[in-house]
Amino acid sequence: MPEGRLEVLISEADIRRRVAELAGQISADYADAGELVLVGVLKGAFIFLADLSRHLTIPRSIEFMAVSSYENSAEASSMVRLVMDLRKNIEGKHVLLVEDIVDTGRTMQFLSELLRARKPRSVKTCALVRKPDRAAVDAEVDYLGFEIPDVWVVGYGLDFGEGDRTLPYIAAMKADP
Ligand code: IMP
Ligand code: MG
Repeated sequence: MPEGRLEVLISEADIRRRVAELAGQISADYADAGELVLVGVLKGAFIFLADLSRHLTIPRSIEFMAVSSYENSAEASSMVRLVMDLRKNIEGKHVLLVEDIVDTGRTMQFLSELLRARKPRSVKTCALVRKPDRAAVDAEVDYLGFEIPDVWVVGYGLDFGEGDRTLPYIAAMKADP
């Protein structure tokens, strides 16, 4: 049971069911494509990627990237910076970028442009959660788990100041009373 400061938005069972569905869809779409390179965005996507990748029935490999966002006062918006790159050349490969959550869409947009510049055979995107009300840029998500309202969520990889990342469900943080 969650503590009083958290409200479950997506239960463990709902996540499990949806992750299996997404994996089924991805396995069908890439059935004849050869190897799929799954690129997880650290840290948030590590749990989702672990579960998603184990449900796939196609040849796949796992890579990671890490980014950090920082405030740009000149543009009054946050910017994304790459802090860890792939270890592998993706030229000519099918790539699926796997994110925990799409908020403004800047991270997804930044990373998919970065990957596309490396001449992969294809780049598609997958996110477990998206907050449509927060979209600031047009970041297309090809495989989406759930849409949620504009609230801060934790669990299943998502954190608040590194806390609550390994909860098995996704919960909204209640505002302080
Ligand atoms: P975007 O670039 O604004 O789309 O932000 C994406 C990143 O912000 C995600 O990969 C998360 O790391 C973080 N983020 C955005 N919203 C939440 C949230 O509700 N909980 C936890 N992390 C979040
Ligand atoms: Mg993230």
